[in-house]
Amino acid sequence: MVDDHGFYQAVLDSSPLGFVAFRLEQDDDDSSLRLVYANLAASSLTGIDLRRSVGKKIGETLPWISPRRVRAYARVCRTGQPLSAGALTLLGEHAERSFNAGAFPGPARSVVIVLESVQHPFCGDSAALNLSRFLESVLENLPAMMFIKDARDLRFERFNREGEALIGVHRTELIGKSDHDFFPKEQADSFVAKDREVLRRGTVEDIPEEQIQTPSGMRWLHTRKIPLLDEHGEPRHLLGISVDITEKKRAQEMLRASHEELERRILQRTDELQLEIAERFRAEETLQRTEEQLRQAQKMEAIGRLAGGIAHDFNNVLSVVLSYCDLMLDDVPEDSSLRRDLEEVRRAGERAATLTRQLLAFSRQQVLQPRVLDLNEVVAGMSRMLERLLGEDVELELRCAPGLGKVRVDAAQIEQVVMNLVVNARDAMPTGGKLTIETANVELDAEFAATHLGVLPGPHVMLAVSDTGTGMDKETLGRVFEPFFTTKEKGKGTGLGLSTAFGIVKQSAGSIWVYSEPANGATFKVYLPVTLEASASLPAPARASEMRGSETVLLVEDEDQVRSLAAGILRKYGYRVLEARMAREALALAAGGGPVDLLLTDVVMPEMAGPLLAEKLMSLRPSMRVLFMSGYTDDAVVRHGILEAGAAFLQKPFVPEVLARRVRAALDGAAPATAD
Ligand SMILES: Nc1ncnc2c1ncn2[C@@H]1O[C@H](COP(=O)(O)OP(=O)(O)OP(=O)(O)O)[C@@H](O)[C@H]1O
Ligand SMILES: [Mg+2]
Repeated sequence: MVDDHGFYQAVLDSSPLGFVAFRLEQDDDDSSLRLVYANLAASSLTGIDLRRSVGKKIGETLPWISPRRVRAYARVCRTGQPLSAGALTLLGEHAERSFNAGAFPGPARSVVIVLESVQHPFCGDSAALNLSRFLESVLENLPAMMFIKDARDLRFERFNREGEALIGVHRTELIGKSDHDFFPKEQADSFVAKDREVLRRGTVEDIPEEQIQTPSGMRWLHTRKIPLLDEHGEPRHLLGISVDITEKKRAQEMLRASHEELERRILQRTDELQLEIAERFRAEETLQRTEEQLRQAQKMEAIGRLAGGIAHDFNNVLSVVLSYCDLMLDDVPEDSSLRRDLEEVRRAGERAATLTRQLLAFSRQQVLQPRVLDLNEVVAGMSRMLERLLGEDVELELRCAPGLGKVRVDAAQIEQVVMNLVVNARDAMPTGGKLTIETANVELDAEFAATHLGVLPGPHVMLAVSDTGTGMDKETLGRVFEPFFTTKEKGKGTGLGLSTAFGIVKQSAGSIWVYSEPANGATFKVYLPVTLEASASLPAPARASEMRGSETVLLVEDEDQVRSLAAGILRKYGYRVLEARMAREALALAAGGGPVDLLLTDVVMPEMAGPLLAEKLMSLRPSMRVLFMSGYTDDAVVRHGILEAGAAFLQKPFVPEVLARRVRAALDGAAPATAD
């Protein structure tokens, strides 16, 4: 062992680590630290010839040292506690010098400071250096802004490249400045407040979204602020790391918008689909309903043709029976027993005629004598009679809409419809109830027309008859308009009431519908199209004294029995009668040159129809009057409106008196269209 001061000195001088020792001379005075030793490396590392300063106070030896560090060294002397190693930077004459420095307690209240060059660490490229370089390069190249502020006045101490790019300012201009130098005051205030709070709490703060104003516009940042504490747990710095999330936000925003748009479109499409499905269901339902209505209509049509065919032939037979009956009654004395029998025959014939008329009505083959009229007047005119018909137990309420539109119908036939409906309602309320007759103006729209076969859209007058009676089940409802359908016991009903009403309404271009449920009464609704024609006033009936005449009547009728019957009646009333079986004969007779005052002709005849014949004859004899007659007219003839021209019309079967009256009226030029 060598015990030589010089030897130890030489050992220390050969070390690449710098050793500097200060001794605290006065316990209560930090500045009393006096340099007692420095080895060679200490001088070369610091660039200061420390050996010459031995004996001088620390302030003189190291004039740039901070009071804080002096305090820390004095504390090591006093407490004997080492100061952990840390970075120490000295400003040299030419360049900065950086060291790793540690301070350890030495003998006799001294502190030994050990310095190691960061650039040339004594054990080569140390792990610490590697780490420090690694961190340096990470921070510099981080794709996020990184900054460090000092904790005291929050001035920037460090800034990385990304930070420069974001703020748009070079770091040399940033270092030493604060937020207030770059951001609007309000924003800088809020940054500073947040920084202070982070430093005060000493915990990491995550700010998921914040906005800053940059030269390239507003940017969104995700920022994390970290307090950096010193060895005593005191916050010294504030580290901030901010990732620019503007593009992500924008993408999110766009995604959200497109999601919303997608959602909106899906909802819209769903709505549309629901509507479409509902529409399709409705259409199918409507189709089913109209198909059902069509089947029903076809059935009614077929029954109608059958009934109409029978009724037509039957009608002519009845005309003959009734008329001969009348003629015979004229000749049979009052007290004859034959007379009673004849009267029975006549009554039976009339009942048969009524039935026939109903059948014709149903088959829409009777000749209507329509007039423009107000249904309210028809209903009002019937009310007394209806009250009597209904009896005391049934209350009658009339609800007539004011300003009701006019309809073009046959008044007597419409009365028949109302009667039939009212009688049915009464029968459905054997223990009493309430019957309401209502009129209203209604506009039937395309929708209603689409679901109600045979209805044309447009203004209509509605006539509704409602009762509080027994109502009907589905099966009955499906058949009520069929002729001879009745649920009444034998002898009580013929089942012709509703079929007659049906035929009349249909022939008047209207429609009839029923709504009913068992035990809940029934409502029958008749819709008639509104006409814009002015209403015609009723003509005065002809007086009995005016029934005779001596004029010449040209009678054209292909049915021999009917023709000779009519001729007989007319001759009885004093007329001169020319008989023709068909149009050709009639034209020949007229060409004969004798007077013809009236043409009485059938409507439907072989070869030439009545109206055409009338037209031809009229051109020869303009002053000639015309009276048409028919029991049955083909639907087409009716629709082509023989009555429209204002021609007089007589319905078969007729009784002699009516024939005479109508012939007289036609000759006298009275308005012809009266109901018989
Ligand atoms: N208001 C109503 N309430 C309940 N059922 C009714 C009503 N109107 C008609 N009906 C049913 O419709 C059937 C046919 O009626 P319709 O008027 O055609 O014939 P009817 O009344 O039986 O005989 P009639 O020929 O004497 O009128 C009736 O038998 C009855 O079952
Ligand atoms: Mg009835």
